[in-house]
Amino acid sequence: MFILGIETSCDETAAAIVENGTKELASSLASSAEIHEQYGGVVPEVAARKQVEFIVPVIAECLKKSGLNKNQIDALAVTVGPGLIGSLVVGVEAAKALSIAWNKPLVPVNHLVGHIYGNFVSETFSQIVFPALVLIVSGGHTDLVLMRGHGDFEYIGGTLDDAAGEAFDKVARILNISKYLGGPALSKLASTWNGEKLPVKLPRPMIHEDNFDFSFSGLKTATKRLIESDATLSPAAVAREFENAIVDVLVTKTIKAAKVHNTKCILLAGGVAANATLRTQLTASGKQIGTPVFVPPIRLCTDNAIYIAAAAFFNPAHKSLEEIVANPSLGVMDSF
Ligand code: KG4
Ligand code: ZN
Repeated sequence: MFILGIETSCDETAAAIVENGTKELASSLASSAEIHEQYGGVVPEVAARKQVEFIVPVIAECLKKSGLNKNQIDALAVTVGPGLIGSLVVGVEAAKALSIAWNKPLVPVNHLVGHIYGNFVSETFSQIVFPALVLIVSGGHTDLVLMRGHGDFEYIGGTLDDAAGEAFDKVARILNISKYLGGPALSKLASTWNGEKLPVKLPRPMIHEDNFDFSFSGLKTATKRLIESDATLSPAAVAREFENAIVDVLVTKTIKAAKVHNTKCILLAGGVAANATLRTQLTASGKQIGTPVFVPPIRLCTDNAIYIAAAAFFNPAHKSLEEIVANPSLGVMDSF
């Protein structure tokens, strides 16, 4: 079964064709990130205008790359939320138009659930067994979810304030290394620390609390204060300690949740899943408790349409076009 997925939740315009939810046939993506970088954050109006410009060429290019013709596409899938309303609407309306023109069903996909399915477009997908403990770490969300099967989720915890990606981005801005989506830049700086004992220590918020919630806003403030308190501090040391702190908390609580809920595996998902330290430490800690950890291929961590098409295959919602509407504030547990 071939599904053409469309994703326009933030600054990207993406289309992809995936076979049986696990095999990527083609993918196209245009981003307006460079423009937002100049402003130090996403400008929703600019993002949406660019998406209007990109959406048709991106879908056409993806179809061409796949070598399929429109008659061979079995269904369409589209992100309905969460995200920026002006951006979501571009993808949703384009998908509806295609659904009518091609006479194909359209499957609405929750972006956060979509992230999880990056793990299935991989050679190891058949080893994923339920129940699984899922850690979703993106720019806007940080959630721990118990996944009993496809579409069968239980929320067990999440951030009470900033998302993990948001904390990376804000600290990267404080360190003056990136104005927008600074996670990769911060991680790169952290990796340059020479390995000596760190001269700084940051808090690990809520790490020992008896729940599965997180709080990263205080960690960001503590990092800011640390930088302001000593102008001679090595930025690499600060970045290393910040990344250590955030990864320590994420890994400790995820492992604890996997043990408490006795899950058969752990799935990592979301843009921050591209972080090398998080991938390595979660995998190592999972091994220690005998629970396999799955991480998506790096290119399937940040936003794309591949996992949207994959999610639609495993969660075929039967909705009429009237029922499919963009919802910017959709949570991971919300159905449409
Ligand atoms: O999932 P995503 O692409 O967009 C949302 O749905 O929010 O996640 C983007 C987030 C940004 O905060 C970005 O800085 C972060 O993921 N990110 C990383 C890395 N790559 C992307 N954070 C830390 N380390 C990385 N390597
Ligand atoms: Zn995302």
